[in-house]
Amino acid sequence: MCCMDSREIVHFDDSRADYCLEVAAEDCGIVIFGASGDLTRRKLVPALFQLYRRSLLPEHFFVLGCARAQLSQDDFRDIFRKAMSMEGSYVEHLEGFLQRFFYIGFDYASPEAYPVLSAKLKELEDSQETGGRRIFYLSTPPSLILPITEGLGRAGLSQESAKGRQWAHLVVEKPFGHDQASATALTESLSQYWQESQIYRIDHYLGKETVQNILVLRFANLVFESVWNRQFIDHVQITVGEAEGVGSRANYYEQAGALKDMFQNHMLQMLALVAMEPPAAFTADRYRDEKLKVLRAIRPFNHESIAECAVRGQYTAGEVDGQPVRGYREETGIKADSEVETTAALKVMIDNWRWEGVPFYLRSGKRWKRRVSEIAIVFRRVPHSMFGPMTPEQLAANTLVLKIQPAEGMGLTLEAKRPGAKNCMSALSMDFDYRDVCKEASPDAYERLLLDCMASDQTLFVQKEEVDLAWSILTPVIESWQDPKGLSPLQFYPAGECGPKALEDLLEKDGRSWRRL
Ligand code: BG6
Repeated sequence: MCCMDSREIVHFDDSRADYCLEVAAEDCGIVIFGASGDLTRRKLVPALFQLYRRSLLPEHFFVLGCARAQLSQDDFRDIFRKAMSMEGSYVEHLEGFLQRFFYIGFDYASPEAYPVLSAKLKELEDSQETGGRRIFYLSTPPSLILPITEGLGRAGLSQESAKGRQWAHLVVEKPFGHDQASATALTESLSQYWQESQIYRIDHYLGKETVQNILVLRFANLVFESVWNRQFIDHVQITVGEAEGVGSRANYYEQAGALKDMFQNHMLQMLALVAMEPPAAFTADRYRDEKLKVLRAIRPFNHESIAECAVRGQYTAGEVDGQPVRGYREETGIKADSEVETTAALKVMIDNWRWEGVPFYLRSGKRWKRRVSEIAIVFRRVPHSMFGPMTPEQLAANTLVLKIQPAEGMGLTLEAKRPGAKNCMSALSMDFDYRDVCKEASPDAYERLLLDCMASDQTLFVQKEEVDLAWSILTPVIESWQDPKGLSPLQFYPAGECGPKALEDLLEKDGRSWRRL
């Protein structure tokens, strides 16, 4: 048991055994399509490595990389050897880890490629003793989802054994479709060879520690539930701001924009976690059903409400972190007259018993002054002030802030007396940061998600109905923004500011304001 420093106000109770939900990852082979790509190098392999060195991976596993590049197995291992040696931590585990890496050059469009893959898999399954369980991870552009999944299906690689001991899981990255019709079409095509129980749609926000903590905070504590409703909560703000610009993803981003890139998935998922009813159990069906009910209760946008409730902006040249940066239209690969939004904000209303009349304000954008993601629950003000001449409006509204990143933790603002002979009061912030409480940095979202996939647990993955609903909620806004005669024109903001002035107006007209970042 560790002794608590008297100054250590925030700490986990070490005198009690932790309550952990077991994640039972099973032996399996992980086939990564797009194995030489950015996501594999930056996220997937580092996440697997962290799991490996903490002995969380199953005893028997292997990674089979597939990509167009003609690489030898050694070349493939070398890519990660170099990338991860540069990071310098835990390199003593690296060789053992890379021994499980294999590679085949793969032409996604070629029907002959899939039987070859099948033979290679069988060979590896025998030598690595993974029991025929397989994860097919699509770390590829969306246009390759269908050729690959159909190729796998035709080669019999989507089949599972009747007793479920030999499973085949398909992991699909976002974007899942580019609008409602294409998402529905994709779902239908996938269903030709894959059951919904085999499909793991990733929204990496659901794997973030601080996002998972929303549920623990809400449903493992009694104090919040009684005030978590329209009687006590004035409004909710969900913010994801980034200092980065579009970077090297011009092609994708020109087709997407902030709404499709961030709102259709991460933002609506976070909203659903804040607003959902308590599920009876933390299981995939119960948990995902409650999220669905929230999405179903969102008031549909229409022509008039879009002008009132939706704002879009695009960054122009400016300064971030003291460095001059280009405007979006000057970025490589971006059209000089691009109308794509790099910031968006929505006022979302949820028409149900708990949330009637409580606005959820969502904002997200690129090239803001800094990177910050948080959810702020802003409570109503006290109904009467006994501290005349202070009015209730002059007393700070209690605000609970769930800090998602880069700071990870929580904060609560309370009105408190300042020590002294006079009766002075002011807003007091109680903040805690996980970094001060835990020795290790939080695991990356992909670690948790990969592990859950190996444990056949779909709880933190998105089901097809959620994707469909999220698209249907946003479709009117997307269509209105594509219409040159639409009512909410694109606004501009210099890089380094948190969106255009119209973002402020969205709240000001409701007598509210965004939290300062
Ligand atoms: C991705 C978006 O899904 O999420 C990116 O495509 C965005 O545009 C990223 O930058 C943000 O994720 P994170 O984990 O860095 O907040």
